[in-house]
Amino acid sequence: MRGTMTVAVTQLSSFLTNRIQRIEVSATMAVAAEAEKLRAKGAHLVDLGAGEPHFHTPQHIKDAAIAAIQGNVTKYTAVGGTAELRDAIIQRHAADFGSDYTREECIASVGGKHALFNAIQVLVDHGEEVIIPVPYWVSFKDIVRYGGGEPVYVPTDERHDFRLTADMVERAITPRTKLIILNSPNNPSGAVMDSKHMTEVLRLAHDRGIYVVSDECYVYLNHTGHKFSAGCVHDVKERLIIIGSLSKTYAMTGWRLGYALGPAPIIAAMNKLQSQSTSNPTAFVQKAAVAALTGSQECVREMLAQYIVLRDKIVEGLRAIPGITCAAPNGAFYAYPNVSHYFGRGGMSSASDVARRLLHDAHVVVVPGEGFGTQDHVRISYATSEENLAKGLERMREFFAGV
Ligand SMILES: Cc1ncc(COP(=O)(O)O)c(C=O)c1O
Repeated sequence: MRGTMTVAVTQLSSFLTNRIQRIEVSATMAVAAEAEKLRAKGAHLVDLGAGEPHFHTPQHIKDAAIAAIQGNVTKYTAVGGTAELRDAIIQRHAADFGSDYTREECIASVGGKHALFNAIQVLVDHGEEVIIPVPYWVSFKDIVRYGGGEPVYVPTDERHDFRLTADMVERAITPRTKLIILNSPNNPSGAVMDSKHMTEVLRLAHDRGIYVVSDECYVYLNHTGHKFSAGCVHDVKERLIIIGSLSKTYAMTGWRLGYALGPAPIIAAMNKLQSQSTSNPTAFVQKAAVAALTGSQECVREMLAQYIVLRDKIVEGLRAIPGITCAAPNGAFYAYPNVSHYFGRGGMSSASDVARRLLHDAHVVVVPGEGFGTQDHVRISYATSEENLAKGLERMREFFAGV
């Protein structure tokens, strides 16, 4: 049986391009699929695996989309989004971070991931190196590989709250380094780069002629009270591409609206690539995005306040489980506890084993850290109700007490 499957896969592979075979299915999606199978059998799972807000999209944003559909905003728009939307993106960013971008330096895409994909495809050529701090969001390495680039990993240490410094980045630079990917607040660790460290990395890259893609999809979910964008650092603009998204900020994951801000020639190249693939983001979603960006930001503040309450509960609960350590997450909505204390118990020897046992025995969904580049952790999303979080913590406590 095993032999037959191998032959089938080999034959299938021969039809596929080299580039598609360089990448993997997202680890988070694999977990979701496994959980789905259990759910179909009637299991009541506590899902702490999902990477999306549990809140509904705010009403005024939904109303704007409905009005746009009724008003027949249903045709193609400019590939990179309407001028109205790009102005809204630029002005929101300028108001919040003091940045200074023009319409030609802004593109709207079908989610932040799409903007990230396009930016990397236009910047990274075969054999060029891309520095990726570890732990990393699952898609960075695959998007780089798809474009023929080579990921160069820079591990960070949980004992220092996964801090990334310019020294660490500098040691990884070679003559082939083209790009550095920053992601603060970070998925999966929740780590936040402070303005000093981020500025030092940006200046280092700028001085060496290296580009920085700063994935700021969680920039508004910063719990420190000092939200900071790479766009605050004006003198590195010619080497900087900011990736933004409405998905997490406004609980709009399914709407698919993200953007990039960067040098006009790079944005023009991204427009060219987008013109040959998706074309524009959905027309009426663009109208909803304008409402989100130009309307009251009270909804963002309310969701952030709730995430902080949930963050405190999950960190306290995890740290109370014997043997589990958890660095303090300062942003996004993830905790990234170290579960290696339990390796060697109950037949578990990896984070994947722990996640699998939590799923099957405790009915709690978490994502194993291997997909994010570390061996000892699982990612827990606390974007869920307080009741659900309490139930998940209770189940985890019982599970670990029993192994
Ligand atoms: C770090 C990071 N970047 C980008 C994205 C992409 O978000 P979207 O494509 O929904 O804007 C995600 C989504 O989980 C993420 O965690």
